[in-house]
Order: sequence, then structure tokens, then C-alpha cells
Amino acid sequence: MTNGKFISLEGGEGTGKSTQVRALAGALTERGIDCLVTREPGGSPGAEAIRELLLGGADERWGPEAEALLFAAARADHVDKTIRPSLKAGRWVLSDRFLDSSLAYQGGAGGLGIDAVRAVNIFGIGDTLPDRTLVLHLGEEEGRARARDRDQHDGDRIGARSADYHRAVETAFRLIAVEELERVRLIDASGSADEVTARLADAIADLLP
Ligand code: TYD
Repeated sequence: MTNGKFISLEGGEGTGKSTQVRALAGALTERGIDCLVTREPGGSPGAEAIRELLLGGADERWGPEAEALLFAAARADHVDKTIRPSLKAGRWVLSDRFLDSSLAYQGGAGGLGIDAVRAVNIFGIGDTLPDRTLVLHLGEEEGRARARDRDQHDGDRIGARSADYHRAVETAFRLIAVEELERVRLIDASGSADEVTARLADAIADLLP
């Protein structure tokens, strides 16, 4: 039995990741690929419990280091209990956010540094890294419009942070994408949902059996 492939979808708020992860899974299923859709923070019972701690309450509930470690702890459990067993069983795993969210949010925007945040995460997940990471990005104008929409709906601890914080997240994602050209692909998230799904499918075509 060969291992399944591991794909993560990333991006700032309002880029349509959750819709796209399901659409991409649908396209893969049509090709006869057995896939599991999961998300972070969460994806295993332990990680879902940590999600409540991370996303609820006041912004100052956790300092930057504690926040980064909680995301890393949730991720270690998600890998151990959900992702690694699925890949070993030959299933593909599609995750709505993974490691690169921590690098961009806690490492880049949160000021801890991408390398420090990567190091604590690698302690937790070992060599279980995505075969491909698709970063959805929007042009500034469309991003701002969708962010305004988001601000009216998304009150979680991190989604509710300042526009400057979210701009720094976007910048960090672009930096990560140019540093890891083989694993990470920037995908234009503008246009119709079907157009975006087609771009995502193209960007993983070389991984298909
Ligand atoms: P979620 O409700 O899943 O939002 P989204 O639809 O934007 O994915 O909330 C997850 C929030 O947590 C989101 O604001 C991004 C943030 N986050 C981090 O800051 N670091 C991380 O490692 C992860 C996985 C998420």
C-alpha cells in the first residue's frame, strides 16, 4: 500500500478556503481517490478541545508564545491521531490550514519569527509535512472588500485582530511561498468558485497517480 498524499490549503481570512477544500476533495473523489477533509485548529478530539481554548475569549487570554505552543500542540495531536494514520492507510488528506498558518500568523504577524515557530512545530509533527501547500491569495482591493465582510461576521480571537495584523499575515504567506517553491504554490483566489477549483486542481496535477 502506498501512502496517500497530504495537501494543505492556506490563506488569510475570506479567501474561500473552506469551500475550496470541499470542492477539491469532490474533484479527487471523482477520480477515484479516497480522501479525508480535515481542518485546523482541530481535526482530532484533542485538537478540537484546544481549538476552543485558542479561538474563544479575549485577545489577551494568551500571550504570543503560549498561543504558538497551543497551535503546535493541537497540530501534533491532529497529525498523530488523524493525518498520519490516514496517509498510512493510503488515503489522501486535505487540510483546511496547517503548519504554514502558524508560520504566517504567529511567526510573521505575531512577531515570534518564522524559524522559531517552525522549530516548535517540527518537534510536534516530525517529518509529516504536506506534499503540496496551496496558498489562496486575493488582490488588495478584493481582499479588503472580503475582509470588511469578514469583520461583520468573524468574531473569533484571531479573526478579529487588526487590519495591520491581517496584512502582515498575507505578507508572510507570500514570503513562505517564494522560499519553498516546490511545496508551496500561490493560487489566485479571484473569480468564480469553479475557476479557483480548476486552478487548485492544476497545481496538484503532478501528484495524481
Ligand atoms: P477558523 O474559524 O478555522 O477560520 P478560517 O475560516 O479563517 O480558517 O479560525 C481559525 C483562526 O485561527 C484563523 O483566524 C486563523 C487562525 N490560525 C492561526 O492563527 N494559527 C494557526 O496555526 C492556525 C491553524 C489558525
